[in-house]
Amino acid sequence: MKIFLLGMMGSGKSYWKQHLAKMLKTGGYDLDFIIEAQEEKTISEIFKEDGEEYFRETEAKLLRLFGVKKIFVLATGGGTPCFHNNMKWMNEQGITIWIDEPFKVLIERLLKEKSHRPLISHLDEEGINEFLTNKYKERKPYYSQATYHLIGEEINLNNFKKIINQHV
Ligand code: S3P
Repeated sequence: MKIFLLGMMGSGKSYWKQHLAKMLKTGGYDLDFIIEAQEEKTISEIFKEDGEEYFRETEAKLLRLFGVKKIFVLATGGGTPCFHNNMKWMNEQGITIWIDEPFKVLIERLLKEKSHRPLISHLDEEGINEFLTNKYKERKPYYSQATYHLIGEEINLNNFKKIINQHV
């Protein structure tokens, strides 16, 4: 089973990836970390030195490496589903789960850990709110194509288990 976790920055994709991979006794991966390892640069450095377009090309290319892997949980980046037909590709490969936390939760988390996120590192609370509002609107058509959608309170282990049980 191939599980792709999607959602806005700060939605907990990495947290749930770790949890689910452990539960399934399988590999858990973070696309951002894979990009950083391949490029030998941080995400911020790639954005700054090579630009977002290069980042998105690299992201799409490294995502495709998961075509040959059979079982895994992958935490994608917030923008991954929205470029280079990635959403369509992930849906052809396995199941996609959209983790949809309310802005209040996202802002709280992002304020604490915005430094390594180049798109928001320069923003204050109001700026992050505005960024999220715009991005959410822009990304919703892609995220909405996910096989499963967990919103707010629905984001819990029980619901992840229910989803996974439908595929084993
Ligand atoms: C991005 C989200 C980040 C990372 C990059 C761009 C985005 O991943 O891929 O900074 O466009 O929303 P996380 O969602 O894991 O923070």
